[in-house]
This record gives sequence, structure tokens and C-alpha cells, in this order.
Amino acid sequence: MKFLSVDFVLTFLVASGYHATASNHSFNAERVVVGTSPSIPGPSSPYREFTLTLLSPIATLDYGADVAGVPTFEVDGLSGPAQIEVKYSEQFTGLLEPFSDGPSLFVSSLANSFQLGTFNITGLGRFSSDFIQGRQRWQIIRLLTNSTVRFRSVSFNSSVGAVQTKNLPGTFQSSNPLYNQIWELGARAASLACFDAGSQESTWKVDRAGTLVSSSIPSYSGSTYNFTDYDLEFDAKIVRGGFIWSMGYNFGIRSKGGILLNLPGNYPVEFTFLNTNKTLFPPSTITLAYGVNFEGVWYRISTIVRSGYLAVSLNQTQLFNVSLSDYYEGGSSISSSGAFGFGAWQDQSTYIRNVTARDSNTTLIYQNSMTNTTTPASIAPKRDRLVWLGDFVHTKRIIDSAVDWLALYHSNSTGLLDFSLFGTAFLGPTAGSAINTASVEAFQGMASVAAAVGDTQSYNKPRELLDRRPRLRHTSGSANNTQARRALSHLPSLKLGPGYRDSTKVLSFDPSANLSPNTNGFLPVLLQQKQAAPAGFLLENLWVAMLASQSSNSGASWEYVNQQSGPGLGQFTSVRHPWGGAATYALTNYIAGIRPLSFGYGTWVVDPAYVGFALDHVTGFLLRTVI
Ligand SMILES: *[C@@H]1O[C@H](CO)[C@@H](O)[C@H](O)[C@H]1NC(C)=O
Ligand SMILES: *[C@@H]1O[C@H](CO)[C@@H](O)[C@H](O)[C@H]1NC(C)=O
Ligand SMILES: *[C@@H]1O[C@H](CO)[C@@H](O)[C@H](O)[C@H]1NC(C)=O
Ligand SMILES: *[C@@H]1O[C@H](CO)[C@@H](O)[C@H](O)[C@H]1NC(C)=O
Ligand SMILES: *[C@@H]1O[C@H](CO)[C@@H](O)[C@H](O)[C@H]1NC(C)=O
Ligand SMILES: *[C@@H]1O[C@H](CO)[C@@H](O)[C@H](O)[C@H]1NC(C)=O
Ligand SMILES: *[C@@H]1O[C@H](CO)[C@@H](O)[C@H](O)[C@H]1NC(C)=O
Ligand SMILES: *[C@@H]1O[C@H](CO)[C@@H](O)[C@H](O)[C@H]1NC(C)=O
Ligand SMILES: *[C@@H]1O[C@H](CO)[C@@H](O)[C@H](O)[C@H]1NC(C)=O
Ligand SMILES: *[C@@H]1O[C@H](CO)[C@@H](O)[C@H](O)[C@H]1NC(C)=O
Ligand SMILES: *[C@@H]1O[C@H](CO)[C@@H](O)[C@H](O)[C@H]1NC(C)=O
Ligand SMILES: *[C@@H]1O[C@H](CO)[C@@H](O)[C@H](O)[C@H]1NC(C)=O
Repeated sequence: MKFLSVDFVLTFLVASGYHATASNHSFNAERVVVGTSPSIPGPSSPYREFTLTLLSPIATLDYGADVAGVPTFEVDGLSGPAQIEVKYSEQFTGLLEPFSDGPSLFVSSLANSFQLGTFNITGLGRFSSDFIQGRQRWQIIRLLTNSTVRFRSVSFNSSVGAVQTKNLPGTFQSSNPLYNQIWELGARAASLACFDAGSQESTWKVDRAGTLVSSSIPSYSGSTYNFTDYDLEFDAKIVRGGFIWSMGYNFGIRSKGGILLNLPGNYPVEFTFLNTNKTLFPPSTITLAYGVNFEGVWYRISTIVRSGYLAVSLNQTQLFNVSLSDYYEGGSSISSSGAFGFGAWQDQSTYIRNVTARDSNTTLIYQNSMTNTTTPASIAPKRDRLVWLGDFVHTKRIIDSAVDWLALYHSNSTGLLDFSLFGTAFLGPTAGSAINTASVEAFQGMASVAAAVGDTQSYNKPRELLDRRPRLRHTSGSANNTQARRALSHLPSLKLGPGYRDSTKVLSFDPSANLSPNTNGFLPVLLQQKQAAPAGFLLENLWVAMLASQSSNSGASWEYVNQQSGPGLGQFTSVRHPWGGAATYALTNYIAGIRPLSFGYGTWVVDPAYVGFALDHVTGFLLRTVI
């Protein structure tokens, strides 16, 4: 629910004028610098062919803004076999961290879960990763071997079409260059969330030998959500490094639960990259007493979770049987109930097949040969995206199902959404105005799109829910002028750093309090109410923060901003978050003043902000207004 309504709305706004461009677009590195450590390439370092050697082993590449796609390299000079480690990051400073700004924690995605990958270069020519890297502006290539490698080109084969905001049907140009750049932040964040059907391939490769699982945090079987006290058995054959399996995972918002087990192989030199961290996962650790060669051999692995105990056997030899209470961290004990899943650490790759699960009475409750299946995975720019950034077709269909679900939680007495059953609504009280106005806006968008494409069924459902709400007018249609002005009159008391606090409950003297561009997305209401001063303050502080530093400017809108105007959650911050894109439509609708009166700009008004922003001229879409 958290992002559902808000992100949908933004996706709709941009997607309604957007045609995803054909695939096969390449993002090429714009600048490169070669040296002994990561370093930002300056304006005098445009991309050119470069060579890595023992003395200059590191190239830093800058793509100018966030991109997504399959890493592709063209090598046209090689002195002998080589290995390279490639690291990706949204912020430059991520390149200085051991795991960059990864791995992804929440969902396995149809992408590499790691912001790192190693390649074995054995000849000249073009080679590509097997995985999409979902988000980065920066990249480093580090040579691991004593050899010489010359790179002709380094690029990403785009997984999101051609993201060229300048070519979108919607445009914004004004005499203030900062406003023009701010407009592009939301446009780029939303464009990077659009993709063509079929462009995101499964990370699990399924064939007759089994399912090859590589470099991804576990993907869980949704149909095993209610398993408790069960035996899981499967065959595994390590191709490189090892694998992860997990049990006791509980699905839910941001669930991170589950017992994680990593079984590394014994790292034979012919399969092992030079940068493999053998401290993190010591070789054959849980089988030290067993002492076998792992890679390339099938093992049947049995995991039993019963009455607080976890036991693992390999080809019928028990490796351990431990009490889970000896391992628990934090306040609560480890649950033995929940789904299971399979994954693999960075650069690990393993075949899984013949999976069975039995309950405590040895009754078979799950069976999957893993030779004919599809990945239960999702798309994620940075993280915590499950279903709602699908392409437009999927988005529309997903809202359609979400509407049914939301209908179940409408109170008959108040006509409002009421999530008290769940105890949480992410945004404010469980039956409060935040979730209700957000859902009104989502339903209105849904009904408008459904009406435009003549889908009566999809139109009627949200329409009916809207009709149950009391008076609907304003940006979301939920507050009248008096109410909006009364709410805005509290703003001065909420001012903090470059923006406004979410609520008075957020302490103004707490240095870790973050500013949410999503919440500060009431910006259009300020403009609607002709409150130029606070609107200008937000544009020139909260949104300018996203442009201010070369290291953290992703060209897209951010998730959180801290009081020092940096990314609010450090490396963990998503710096291409469509929920921070309100300034984009605020500039079009209230500074250029071009607003639709009916869906899709069938009819429209032009009502530019003549005063308060010191602008000489502003152009929106193809209309130019001289102020
Ligand atoms: C994509 O580019 C490759 C290499 O340039 C080319 O072989 C292929 O036909 C292109 N595919 C499409 C769908 O345009
Ligand atoms: C890029 O990816 C598309 C599919 O997303 C594929 O059709 C195309 O061949 C790829 N192009 C190159 C040059 O690898
Ligand atoms: C690297 O390779 C060169 C040429 O083969 C050799 O002369 C040099 O000693 C090697 N250096 C190291 C550190 O291995
Ligand atoms: C889990 O729930 C499904 C219905 O969703 C039911 O068919 C199945 O028997 C349950 N399995 C177990 C092990 O409780
Ligand atoms: C790299 O490729 C070569 C040639 O195929 C192979 O002999 C070598 O074992 C590979 N190294 C790794 C670490 O995979
Ligand atoms: C390997 O992993 C260990 C444990 O996480 C860590 O302390 C160490 O710094 C890592 N080594 C390298 C070279 O990354
Ligand atoms: C483990 O058992 C399987 C049969 O389930 C057998 O095919 C395999 O060779 C055994 N692995 C080893 C290393 O003994
Ligand atoms: C799957 O494993 C079971 C043993 O648990 C074995 O009886 C069965 O033959 C295996 N099936 C396949 C297709 O390998
Ligand atoms: C196992 O069998 C017993 C006796 O038939 C039954 O009471 C119990 O519910 C069964 N347990 C499961 C998990 O099916
Ligand atoms: C694979 O799954 C599909 C869809 O469930 C089914 O139609 C097909 O027969 C299966 N193929 C095999 C070899 O089991
Ligand atoms: C609201 O009323 C309908 C019947 O009109 C009923 O089906 C539904 O369960 C009621 N909803 C709630 C939350 O009580
Ligand atoms: C606005 O809403 C308030 C209820 O909060 C109501 O008292 C007032 O009459 C409304 N004003 C208009 C102009 O509709």
C-alpha cells in the first residue's frame, strides 16, 4: 500500500504521454579516467579507448546519469588470460565501499542482486554479463591479473528503452536553468521505471539439468507461505562458488526474515575468481569433516526444521543439528514457519533440481523438478519495488486487482479506507487522510485511463469507490480551499533544513530526521494556492539538493534528503525514486501553468505563474508563454 497509490500516480502522469522506445538502445560511458584508485573523471576526460595494466589497474566510468541494462564490454587488446572485477553505483561514493551500494535486500528482481560482478576474459571481442544491472551512474573496472587489457567500448544494453527525457512529448524550458533540470528529475525517474514487455529476462536459467541460480538473493516459493515444521530436500550441483538456501521466510511488507544458509564449495582454482572472499564464506565450511570436492558434483541436501531445531544433511550424512534459540538475534526467536527459497552470493552459480517438501508426518506437500518452471521474481530499480513499476499494461492490470483488494477495506459507515486490521498504513493513521487521499488520486487516475480506453469494467469499480467518498475536489480532490489553506498555515512550524518535516512528531532537533520529497510533494498545492515563497523555497532547496553534487546527482528524483541536503539514507537511499517527482508536474501544471481540464489534455488551460519566480519566459509541451 505504501507506494502503491503515490507511485502509480506519478507513473501514470508521465506514462500517459510516453511511448517506451524500442529495446536495443545502448548507454555509453561518457567519461573515463584510469589510475590506481576510483576517481571522478573531469570534463577533460571524455570517453576514449583505454588500457588497464598492473600499474594502472582501475578505470572509473561516468554515464552522466542513472542508467540500467546489461553490462557490455568490447576488448580489442589482451596480453593473456585476465580477470576483471566490475563495480556499479548510483552515487560515486558507493564505489569506495566493499559491496558498493548493494546488495539488494528486499526483492531478488530480474537483475543481479549485487552491484559487483567478476569476468573471466579469455579472448578478444565483445562480451556481456548474464544479468541486468538495475541502477547506476558510476562504474569501475579493476584488473585482477598481471596482464594488459585494452577496452574499445564499455556500455549497458538498455533494459529500459532509450531514456532521453529531451525526446519525451512533455517538455519544460524556462529562463531558470535550475527549474529545467529539476523538471527532468521526475521525468527520468519515471522513464527508468518503464520497460518493454519481454525485456527483463529471468535470472534463473531453467533447462533439463535443473535450474541454474546465480548472483541473486533468494527467490521464495509463494505457494509454500504456510509451511511449518517441514523437511526440505533438493539436489544441488555447484558450478562456481556455492549457493544460498533459505527457510522460514514470512511474506509481508519488507520482510527480511528467514533462515539463510550458504554452502560454499572448496574453491578449485579453475572455477574460482581471484577476488573471491574466502573469509566471508570459508571453503567447504559446514562440510569440513566431510572433505569432498564440491564443484561439478550433485549432492542431495536435506534440511529439517522441527520444534525449534534445524538439521542439515548432505547425501544422508548429517552435518549439524542445532537449536535455533542458540542463534537468534534481537528480541524474538527465529520462526521455523514460512516459505523456502534459493539464491546465490556474488559470482556464485549452482544448479538446483528435484525439490520436495514433507510435513512432520512425511506427507509430500511440495514437489518441483525445477526443470520446467518460471522465476517468481520482480522488477526493482533499487529495492522495495514489487509490482507497481511494471510497464503501462501491467500497471493498469495491477491497479485493477489492487482496487478489488482495497474495496474489501472500505468502512461502510465512513466510506473511508480503514486498515486498522493491519495495525499500520505506512502513511499516518490507519483510516487517516494520507492513505485516503492517496487512494482517491489513484482511483481517479485509474477511472480516467479506463474511460479513455473504453474499459467499462475497470472504470466502474474505482468510480463506485470514489462515489462513496465525501466531497472530492482539490489536487487529489479531497480537501476544499479552506481546508487546504488551513493545512498549509501550519507549514512554518514544520520547516526543517531544506524542506518540511512529515509531522510535528518528527523532532526538529533530531539530526537524523529526514525530509521526504514524497510528503513534500504537496508542492502543487502551494502553487495552486499562489504561495510562491514556500514553493520557491522547496524547489531551490529540497529539489536543488538532488542536483547539487556530482557524486550523488543521478539525474533522477530521490527517495529521502537529509538536513545537510545529501541522500537521506546514505548509500541505501534510492536516488531514482519516482515518488520524489512531484516537482516535475508542478512545474508543468503551475509554473508553465498548462493543466488538463479533461483526461489526456483533451481540453486544457494555460495559467502560468506570472509572479513570484522571477522568470522571463517558460515553455511547456510546445506552448511558449512570455511572462
Ligand atoms: C540489436 O543490436 C544487435 C547488434 O547491433 C543487432 O544484431 C540486433 O539485430 C539488434 N536487434 C534489434 C531488435 O534491433
Ligand atoms: C540488447 O537487448 C535486447 C533485448 O533486451 C536484445 O534483443 C539485443 O540483441 C541486445 N543487444 C545487444 C547489442 O546485445
Ligand atoms: C607481471 O608480468 C610481467 C610480464 O610477464 C613480469 O615481468 C612481471 O614480473 C609480473 N609482475 C608481477 C608482480 O607478477
Ligand atoms: C497452505 O494453504 C493452501 C491454501 O492456500 C492449502 O491448500 C494447503 O493445504 C496449505 N498447506 C499447508 C502445508 O498447510
Ligand atoms: C577462465 O576461462 C578459462 C578458459 O575457458 C578457463 O580455463 C579458466 O578456468 C577460467 N577461470 C575461471 C576462474 O573461471
Ligand atoms: C572479506 O570478508 C570479510 C568478512 O566480511 C571482511 O572483513 C573482509 O574485509 C573481506 N575482504 C575483502 C578483501 O573484501
Ligand atoms: C550424492 O548422492 C547422489 C544420489 O542422490 C549421487 O548421484 C551423487 O554421486 C552423490 N554425491 C557424492 C559426492 O557422493
Ligand atoms: C528426486 O529425489 C528422490 C529422493 O528424494 C528420488 O527418489 C527421485 O528419483 C528423484 N527424482 C529425480 C527426477 O531425480
Ligand atoms: C499428523 O498426523 C496426526 C495423526 O493422524 C494428525 O493429528 C496431525 O494433524 C498430522 N500433522 C500434520 C502436520 O498433518
Ligand atoms: C512445462 O510446463 C508447461 C506449463 O505448465 C506445460 O504445458 C508443459 O507440458 C511442461 N513441460 C514439461 C516437459 O513438463
Ligand atoms: C459493507 O457492506 C457490504 C454489504 O453491503 C458487506 O458485504 C461488507 O462486508 C461490508 N464491509 C465491511 C467492512 O463491513
Ligand atoms: C470546506 O470544508 C469544511 C469542512 O471541513 C466546510 O465546513 C466548508 O463549508 C467547506 N467549504 C466550502 C467552500 O465548501
